[in-house]
Amino acid sequence: MKNFIHALPKVELHLHIEGTLEPELMFELAKSNNIKIPFNTFTEIKAAYDFYNLQSFLDIYYQGANVLVKEQDFFDLTWAYLLRCKEDNVMHTEIFFDPQTHTSRGISFDTVVNGIHRALLRGKEELGISNNLIMCFLRHLNEEDAFRTLALALSHKDKIVAIGLDSSEIGNPARKFERVFKKAIKNGFLTVAHAGEEGPPKSIIDALEVLELSRIDHGVTCSEDEYLLELLALNRIPLTICPLSNIKLKVFKTMEEHNIVKLLRKGLCVTINSDDPAYFGGYITDNFLAVAKAHDITKTEIAQFTFNAIEASFISDEEKDRLTLIINNYLT
Ligand code: HPA
Ligand code: ZN
Repeated sequence: MKNFIHALPKVELHLHIEGTLEPELMFELAKSNNIKIPFNTFTEIKAAYDFYNLQSFLDIYYQGANVLVKEQDFFDLTWAYLLRCKEDNVMHTEIFFDPQTHTSRGISFDTVVNGIHRALLRGKEELGISNNLIMCFLRHLNEEDAFRTLALALSHKDKIVAIGLDSSEIGNPARKFERVFKKAIKNGFLTVAHAGEEGPPKSIIDALEVLELSRIDHGVTCSEDEYLLELLALNRIPLTICPLSNIKLKVFKTMEEHNIVKLLRKGLCVTINSDDPAYFGGYITDNFLAVAKAHDITKTEIAQFTFNAIEASFISDEEKDRLTLIINNYLT
């Protein structure tokens, strides 16, 4: 099973590029950019990454992102992730970035997006990994800030396919961003949003109704509501699930208790992703392995996660057919 999972061609749909900042690069950039971070050693980092909920993670995560200053820093961050994708046999990845985390510190939107984009182009050319870029609004910030950020994104429309919503779910309902999402949709962006990570099923239902989403990021609390489960299964509304993240942030106590396999068997379009791998202890292959270790699951079911991710991705039908064929060939 281990070898099967490692070599399985994969598609990642839920990955925050700022969440791929490994301690080595964090220390290196802190030094070269002369930025103070609250850790001096790997041991201190390890101790700090002992999260008890989403907010306890976010507080540390935004501090880490402070070391990213120059366009080259964003390039290096993204390139390191793509090299890791190559090792994990990722064929296609759709990554999030959080411009407000950087513009609020005086880093320009152009610096962020151009650095990431340059690495993505090189990843496509040199590593053969295709990609889509998704810009997230931070939901703890206000609507006005989101509108300002959307205006900046419009001049990079060629590089960004969709708009997302991340950060603190509790206390920041989807409704807060209804108008800015409407404007984004009018401008041709697709939409996704984090919902049902810590929030109740109602938070998923509201997000679907108000933001016209193509998929839900996380969405694991859906199992508390039979009506919602049926809605998600019947309409094949994708959930981008991040198993190791859910354990690190105490959404589930153990991987054995995680509902991802149950959701798969109920016919939901669930996928496996890594969220913030540098903080949660594993990239996409590690997430697959952790699920397979904790659950009695067949190779056919494991491959279904990739078929689902192809179905849920923002690539053309021709490209979906091409990737599907690669998996079918892998299975025979
Ligand atoms: N949830 C919400 N916001 C985030 C996450 C997450 O898992 N990771 C990075 N930003
Ligand atoms: Zn996330």
